[in-house]
Amino acid sequence: MLKHVKVSVVLIAVSCLPVWAQRSNVRAGRGYREAADFVMAQLALKPGQVIVDIGAGDGWWTKHMADRVGADGRVYAGEVVQNKVDAIRNRYVDTPQIKAYRCPMDGTGLPDHSCDLVFLSKTYHHLEGHVDYLRHLTQVTKASGRLAVVELHMALASGQSKDHAWQPGLLTQQAEEAGWILQTYSMIPGSDHFIAVFIKPAFLKAKIDEALGARNEDS
Ligand SMILES: C[S@@+](CC[C@H](N)C(=O)[O-])C[C@H]1O[C@@H](n2cnc3c(N)ncnc32)[C@H](O)[C@@H]1O
Repeated sequence: MLKHVKVSVVLIAVSCLPVWAQRSNVRAGRGYREAADFVMAQLALKPGQVIVDIGAGDGWWTKHMADRVGADGRVYAGEVVQNKVDAIRNRYVDTPQIKAYRCPMDGTGLPDHSCDLVFLSKTYHHLEGHVDYLRHLTQVTKASGRLAVVELHMALASGQSKDHAWQPGLLTQQAEEAGWILQTYSMIPGSDHFIAVFIKPAFLKAKIDEALGARNEDS
């Protein structure tokens, strides 16, 4: 009898392992990577675009974006840790549109109006002086430029993971203060992370005026 109980406990434990592993992956922040196609769809990248991936880490998102902007595009992979810059350079030596570089803590280090998109995945919570940083990003991006932020949702974080999470409402408030406006917001399927994409109000207004003008011409 005792032997049967022991076997059953082992079987239940083993059968729960995949679920537990998946859950702990999500908690550790890896779950959002499995939804890469979803994240890329939110970014709607075009060949030839110039992107900066701030806090690029191991360059995983950098490579996904580089594949979409193609050989005529460019993805700057900004990192504050030199080892990570070197590792990205070595790993993606065959993807010349990836330019890994050591960026300063308080900015991208890139020229004004040079980027179509600034991408920050699980890096926003590391920044200091959030509104000033976001203001700098309005300068680095073109008039049509966008900002995309991926973070663990604070309401779904617990324990130590709260130190690596952010509130979407606070992000939106800080972004608006810095001169951005929310374009899209979504939870990333299968994860506890969200993605928020921001654009510039003047660009949005120009698009609305254009659409209204076209409608008036039709009528
Ligand atoms: C949690 S990792 C995220 C890596 C990658 N973006 C991802 O989603 O898998 C955060 C990265 O941000 C980098 N980082 C921290 N502060 C930064 C700053 N002020 N500017 C640029 N990168 C920063 C860290 O070195 C680290 O590699």
